[in-house]
Amino acid sequence: MSKITAAITAVNGYVPPTVLSNKDLEKMVDTNDEWILSRTGIKERRILKEPGLATSDMAVEAVNGLLKKRGISAEEIDLIIFATVTSDLIFPSSACLLADKIGAKNAFGYDLAAACSGFLFSLETGARFIESGKYKKVLVVGGDKMSSIIDYTDRNTCIIFGDGCGAVLLEPNEDGYGIIDSVLKIDGHGRHFLHQKAGGSLKPPTHETIDAKEHFVFQDGKTVFKFAVTGMADVSAQIMERNHLSADDIAWLVPHQANLRIIDATAERMGLGKEKVMINIDHFGNTTNGTLPLCLWEWESKLKKGDNLVLAAFGGGFTWGAIYIKWAYDGN
Ligand code: UT7
Repeated sequence: MSKITAAITAVNGYVPPTVLSNKDLEKMVDTNDEWILSRTGIKERRILKEPGLATSDMAVEAVNGLLKKRGISAEEIDLIIFATVTSDLIFPSSACLLADKIGAKNAFGYDLAAACSGFLFSLETGARFIESGKYKKVLVVGGDKMSSIIDYTDRNTCIIFGDGCGAVLLEPNEDGYGIIDSVLKIDGHGRHFLHQKAGGSLKPPTHETIDAKEHFVFQDGKTVFKFAVTGMADVSAQIMERNHLSADDIAWLVPHQANLRIIDATAERMGLGKEKVMINIDHFGNTTNGTLPLCLWEWESKLKKGDNLVLAAFGGGFTWGAIYIKWAYDGN
């Protein structure tokens, strides 16, 4: 029998309807459209505004659409891996909540926390479950309600992030399509530069932590930028080299959407023109675990069977990596 690989066989996404534009932010903090656009590439982002809705509710929309597209029922799902840093609750996991809400009665699942690289790490993990032969349908979900942990009086962070969720289905393939290779890394020294100070076991919530705004994202943007530019480009170049891929061989770079300048630097290092790079940061901002599946969702109709894709990300931890995928179906 030929080797089993894990192929993406369906993709879908969801973003909430409320738009938060740069112009809106100008009224909230000392910033301006020109600064945001030139420094980050962001024009607007989506916000999940309705009270009582959380990350798993965006996932329900994305996954129900995915199941419909693929023509399968939720009961056929074996495993749900949910990449998020904004789980609905500390516990149980958003994977549990999602399984309940969509009726995935035969699945097990869990959340995976790797900040902006969570979707990549989840894809790698999901692929191993498929390759083992034991599981046939693995849902990999990436989504965040970043607005729930953003201080909208802090111009260093509130201009960057948005809410959204995407999902892919992994299924076995015996023709060599799917997830081919990965380079994944973590370095905990990076924790000082991008984190949420309170709410965990180190600093449980108190009146003081709330007053000190320690439940919001803290980012030393300049330092993270420096590491992200080299980190994302390094692993992308590395995955090309070890798979003997030239720029001509690559159909698409699917980069994490933290800053257009980081994306440009990665594409340049890989020798790719802009026409081969998926970019949704202009209209969705940085949706953390949502960026990669939301790109695949928006570009799905352009993807062709056999296309070589490199997915790359860098995020809090630090965490970073690149995954090489041979796309398994014609998108239209
Ligand atoms: O997804 C997870 C990983 N995260 C990342 O990869 C993010 C990496 N970092 C970045 O994308 C960028 O560092 C930011 C977009 C966060 C910031 O851009 P920057 O070019 O690094 O700006 P900066 O922090 O160095 O600030 C430059 C200037 C400062 O003013 P002075 O000191 O030069 O007078 C800031 O006070 O811009 C000022 N500034 C702003 N001005 C208008 C900072 N934020 C804003 C703002 N609007 N929102």
